[in-house]
Amino acid sequence: MKKETKSIRIQVEKSKHREHSVPLYLTSSFVFDNTEQGRALFADETEGDIYSRLSNPNVSEFIQKMYILENAEAGSAFATGMAAIYASFAALLKSGEHIITSRSLFGSTHQLLTKILPKWGITHTYVDNANPENWEKAVKENTRMIFVETPSNPQLEIIDLEFLGKLKEKYKLILNVDNCFATPVIQTPADFGADLVTHSATKFIDGQGRVLGGVVVGKKELIMEIEFFARQTGSSLSPFNAWVLSKSLETLAVRIERHSENALMFAEYFKDNNELEFLRYPFLSTHPQYALAKKQMKLGGGIVTFSVKGGYARAEKFMDALKIISRTPNLGDTRTSITHPSSTTHSKLTEKERLAVGITPGLVRISVGLENIKDIIEDVEQALNVSKVSSISRKAGGNNSVEILKIL
Ligand SMILES: Cc1ncc(COP(=O)(O)O)c(C=O)c1O
Repeated sequence: MKKETKSIRIQVEKSKHREHSVPLYLTSSFVFDNTEQGRALFADETEGDIYSRLSNPNVSEFIQKMYILENAEAGSAFATGMAAIYASFAALLKSGEHIITSRSLFGSTHQLLTKILPKWGITHTYVDNANPENWEKAVKENTRMIFVETPSNPQLEIIDLEFLGKLKEKYKLILNVDNCFATPVIQTPADFGADLVTHSATKFIDGQGRVLGGVVVGKKELIMEIEFFARQTGSSLSPFNAWVLSKSLETLAVRIERHSENALMFAEYFKDNNELEFLRYPFLSTHPQYALAKKQMKLGGGIVTFSVKGGYARAEKFMDALKIISRTPNLGDTRTSITHPSSTTHSKLTEKERLAVGITPGLVRISVGLENIKDIIEDVEQALNVSKVSSISRKAGGNNSVEILKIL
């Protein structure tokens, strides 16, 4: 079976009821036929479920589908995307070791690197991805991992996976890629040599904004260490969420195709709009890394970012004028949603840190949904008109984006 078919057809063995759709195994533990069976299961002499913190049929089904889709060998599932990312660091890195990463990261990952890992002596260097040589320059004696998001949240920075695959080989590093924005439908980092691929399953994998979840897939020997860490520290994915996520994988490919089609139409429509300072979408020829995006991504994905003229005040007025699009921090939903990173997902960063990665006060991130795109375009157009620059007083910081654009 092709992997797309497997992501639909793999399922927990049928019960005596011969159900077509997999039932939910909502149970905290599993029963031993006798004491000897319990002993053998705990001793790893026989395979089977013991306790849902360790494994569960719905969770195992979801993991198997995910590693097959990602062309990886094994996987481990988590309660959230952040738990997955944290486990991929904490299980494999020792005190005194070092991570190299791009500055262009989701806000909580940035907090993890700057506020939490340093408590245990794990340090990092942010690499300026504008020049690929910077990656090699950042490698130190104690560097053990390269961590990247591509496309990144929210700037849609694209990182050359083939290049990093070679670099990690040269220095024997672990290449860890957050593939949340692309999903395995668009790119499979393992094909470029990634050892680990992390996901917030909360986003496009769920696809309807219902449950939280995370997963790490990759090389078996690394996953075994991550799995050990996860089992002992208890960040397990709940069976219910796994059941939802596994069913969602059945429609992932068709959803991502439609998200990408809608997002491209949206980006094309607004790319030259006078009310915007800039608009970014990986598959628009104006994206600074368009050629790279075309090389390593099959589709452009569902996320578009743009900065409105007039900074924070304009962004606020624009967002509040939207009639259909949901104002919410999540993304990857069937419903188009909008986020203002500088006041929400990236608000814990300093203004300087935000500007350094292009998060201007006027920047908004749109996760283009599966609605008829004409309705979404009309909604954005009317909100841009209602919030015209002349009708608002500029707040402090309103012009920073122009300056930042020059730097970028
Ligand atoms: C790129 C990326 N990675 C990780 C996460 C964290 O995921 P979760 O909210 O499931 O912990 C997010 C959440 O927005 C994200 O956008």
